[in-house]
Amino acid sequence: MCGIVGYVGQKQALEVVVAGLRRLEYRGYDSAGVAVIADGALEVRKKAGKLANLESLIGTDPLPQSTTGIGHTRWATHGGPTDSNAHPHVSEDSSIAVIHNGIIENFAELREELTAAGVTLSSETDTEVAAHLLAATMPAAGGNLTDAMRMVCQRLEGAFTLVAIDKAQPDLVVAARRNSPLVVGLGEGENFVASDVSAFVDHTRNALELGQDQIVTITPSGVDVITFEGGPAEVTPFTVDWDAAAAEKGGFDLFMLKEIAEQPKAVADSLRGRFDADNRLQLDEMRLSDVDLRGITKVVVVACGTAFHAGMVAKYAVEHWTRIPVEVELASEFRYRDPIVGPDSLVIAISQSGETMDTLMALRHAKAQGARTLAICNTVGSTIPRECDAVLYTYAGPEIAVASTKAFLTQIVAAYLVGLYLAQVREQMSAADISDVMEDLKGMPQKVDLVLDTVEPVRAIARTFANSTSVLFIGRHVGYPVALEGALKLKELAYMHAEGFAAGELKHGPIALIEDGVPVVVILPSPSDRLHDKMISAIQEVRARGAVIIAIAEEGDEKILNFSDHVIRVPVTPSLMQPLVSTVPLQVFACEMATAKGHDVDQPRNLAKSVTVE
Ligand code: M6R
Repeated sequence: MCGIVGYVGQKQALEVVVAGLRRLEYRGYDSAGVAVIADGALEVRKKAGKLANLESLIGTDPLPQSTTGIGHTRWATHGGPTDSNAHPHVSEDSSIAVIHNGIIENFAELREELTAAGVTLSSETDTEVAAHLLAATMPAAGGNLTDAMRMVCQRLEGAFTLVAIDKAQPDLVVAARRNSPLVVGLGEGENFVASDVSAFVDHTRNALELGQDQIVTITPSGVDVITFEGGPAEVTPFTVDWDAAAAEKGGFDLFMLKEIAEQPKAVADSLRGRFDADNRLQLDEMRLSDVDLRGITKVVVVACGTAFHAGMVAKYAVEHWTRIPVEVELASEFRYRDPIVGPDSLVIAISQSGETMDTLMALRHAKAQGARTLAICNTVGSTIPRECDAVLYTYAGPEIAVASTKAFLTQIVAAYLVGLYLAQVREQMSAADISDVMEDLKGMPQKVDLVLDTVEPVRAIARTFANSTSVLFIGRHVGYPVALEGALKLKELAYMHAEGFAAGELKHGPIALIEDGVPVVVILPSPSDRLHDKMISAIQEVRARGAVIIAIAEEGDEKILNFSDHVIRVPVTPSLMQPLVSTVPLQVFACEMATAKGHDVDQPRNLAKSVTVE
């Protein structure tokens, strides 16, 4: 949700910043802008629409050479996606330029105050107030941008990352962070700030995680971090463990296609090295004792979107293995309904980005109630794992396409590992049983590979239905969250009405949606599963009313041939592992449908990858 990058060093700032924005564009693409300092003046270019629009503007109206710059790619919150609302925003005296990610909640009061003081605001954004406040505070701060930032941050409410430059201090970029992402890249004779490491990984893999309410000042030769109060700040250095190529398309037309193809490796990597010398499962960061875990009486998963669906899948497995009740909550609803959690609850926050504000706020609420917390996350150094007692990273590599694919599979794997870990600590499963499940999991990359090898016919099926007005997805047990995930993918990519249902619920209402020709995607369990026949009954009910059936069925399931119009095959797989294979054709289905409709698959309309506002 907005990508920000700042650079100071020896290179052409514009090139570094625009290349960084290209990597961050997945975070928002309503507008883009840059500011550089040259010859004692600020130069700003900004444009509504995608980064390409900004690049063509700079092509016709070039920027002067400069070694200090900031850049922004926006997901609009306050004010529509127009040129004037695009960042950077500049103070009235043209001395200070600011970019921002997040929401300044008290911006209306601050706007009034500025207007009363005679300042003319030129945008509808909350960000612009920060530019004017910084300029107004500079005299009191003795002309020191870092001090001015510190003073201004103390007046701001909400969540924000702010990055500012001052025309009078050309070798310096100042950034502040509260509840929004910000990382620092440490180079040689150059330094960076950005929303995430992908913006600077071409230049350096050495980085710093910042804590909350911290301000960083970067110059070509140094990095200085202080708290909002001006005291020393604790930071954590880390090395980015993937290279720049991982954030490129690597020969694929779309990031989504690349990320779908990477799933076998992502699953395999997320399973690697999970046993210690005593052959006991281990997590990446564990600040919970076995005694704590033995005292857990319930597990609550908080997550959003695809991560929420991963949590729903995990519920079936974790309850089965541990006999601990598992609740799965939409993070955005969690804290507003006064949930019952306490020291005997384990709250698991699942988030690819580690920055989703709804999930972060749910997590903080759970912590405030004394709950034990555990993060399942794909982004090292992000806020959610930093704030949890324990962390299990998914090793999916950077996920750039807005539609989540490989993160989903690895989140299921990670949540299963947590379930097995709990079962191990609480002696609910024998070592042999845990090892059997691990063997099943270890076999999954190969099975996902098989699905990818045979997925071609899915594209043709997707094209057949590109003009449908609605597609329904049904499943039972772990097939139900898979149905929800298939529908979510189709909504966000093909902009089409799509809904997932628990198949048993059809007759309680949704079956009224069925009319002649409505495509219904059915996620079938194995023929040996007791729910297989129930699913066949559901198919018959909708078929009798004109539905066209697209079945996701196991190899060897001959019975389904009599009840479906199209069959997509997945390998024979234990029931609890089935989501890892049956989701893949649904990802391809949505991707192909969106392509057939001419949509931008990697950057679907109105969305952003990382949702850092509540
Ligand atoms: O970064 P997170 O996993 O916390 O993101 C949660 C959702 O915003 C995300 O899964 C979203 O639903 C995806 N775009 C769906 O494909």
